[in-house]
Amino acid sequence: MKLNSFDKSKELFLRATKVIPSGISGNKNPAFAVPGSFPYFAESGEGCRYKDVDGNEYIDYLAGYGPIVLGYNDPVVEAAADAQRKLGAAFNHPTPRAVELAEKLVDLIPAIDWCAFGKNGSDVTAYAIQTAREHTQRRKILMAKGAYHGSQSWCRHGLGGLIESDYEHVLTFTWNDADSVMDLVKKYDGDVAGIIITPYHHPAFADQEMPAPGFLQTLRKICDDHEIVFILDDVRAGFRLDMKGSHEYFGFKPDLTCYCKAMANGYAVSACCGSQPFKNAASRVFFTGTYYTSAVEQAASLACLDELVKSNAIEHMMKMGTMLMDGLKKTAADNGLEVRLTGPPTLPFMTFASEKNFRRSQLFSGEAAKRGVLLHPHHNWFIMRAHKEADIQRTLEVADACFAIVSKEFGKD
Ligand SMILES: Cc1ncc(COP(=O)(O)O)c(C=O)c1O
Repeated sequence: MKLNSFDKSKELFLRATKVIPSGISGNKNPAFAVPGSFPYFAESGEGCRYKDVDGNEYIDYLAGYGPIVLGYNDPVVEAAADAQRKLGAAFNHPTPRAVELAEKLVDLIPAIDWCAFGKNGSDVTAYAIQTAREHTQRRKILMAKGAYHGSQSWCRHGLGGLIESDYEHVLTFTWNDADSVMDLVKKYDGDVAGIIITPYHHPAFADQEMPAPGFLQTLRKICDDHEIVFILDDVRAGFRLDMKGSHEYFGFKPDLTCYCKAMANGYAVSACCGSQPFKNAASRVFFTGTYYTSAVEQAASLACLDELVKSNAIEHMMKMGTMLMDGLKKTAADNGLEVRLTGPPTLPFMTFASEKNFRRSQLFSGEAAKRGVLLHPHHNWFIMRAHKEADIQRTLEVADACFAIVSKEFGKD
């Protein structure tokens, strides 16, 4: 079998470094994956596969870091986007698509009564914490250690350009440890505006952790008892667990909820949604951007959400994800290796049980990329509706070859 090479990706990256800071910014920089054994630039996509600039084709489990939920180039979503594009993409005002999309989300998600639209997840998580602060007239925001809520400075990710005052009112607790939340609530009694969580813990460079029984419900009670706004950041998991919101899947009710990735199958739109008591505070926060009202993305989102519901996509994705997780565990064991598969089946992740530094994961993912399967070594994966049984079977064949290479390099343990 001829293995993929990445010459054009490397060439283009060198050109990029001359005219773009770090060539590719943030988590899409090659340093975050497997430099030299991973594609850096994409060319086109169809279904669950995409091609990179070298012409290599992959069965993709990164899905653009989440947004591709139906599959690349989905005909229904593209037709809706094209129809809107013919009318115009951006105007002085929103189009009826904004109202239709807000109505659709309010119909779909019982916990919410209103929505405001942005472009990226970071827009809406920042807006949610501002809304919480405005509603409570307090300052502190509590978030789980290691959680990712976006690239804005309040999230204190990255090293450059931050000053302490950016995040001095953002405090961290330990996931699944309600006592660590309560300690902060007591310490900053009367000054905690909001608690922001993801529906389950999905940090990069770590196993995913589901909520312990009662953890999310305890947080709800803490928020009720202390008049704190409970914010669900469903940017990553939204519409991959339950169309009514991931809180339905885990049985709790947030006050504000943030959606983005799977809303529009790759079109840039995000939403901060909330229940009635928070609508006035939300309307007092200045929330806008040149493209926040762009209609093409909103038309795409309307079509994407309809498709997800109509085709019962989550059920199919759960089945495919379970097949992948079970299959990887067994294939690893057949090669004398132990792996941990964590997270829900639609957003699985794998680590090697004896791993300390991700070198096994990097070797595994790099070898998989050379064989046409894209599985990120440090970040959770995403299942799409377009993944079919034959794709999972092919993935497991490739995984078998890659586990054998890991076993040869690092030994069986
Ligand atoms: C849970 C979560 N919140 C917020 C964000 C930020 O979204 P964006 O990158 O679209 O700004 C992300 C992005 O990965 C995310 O996973």
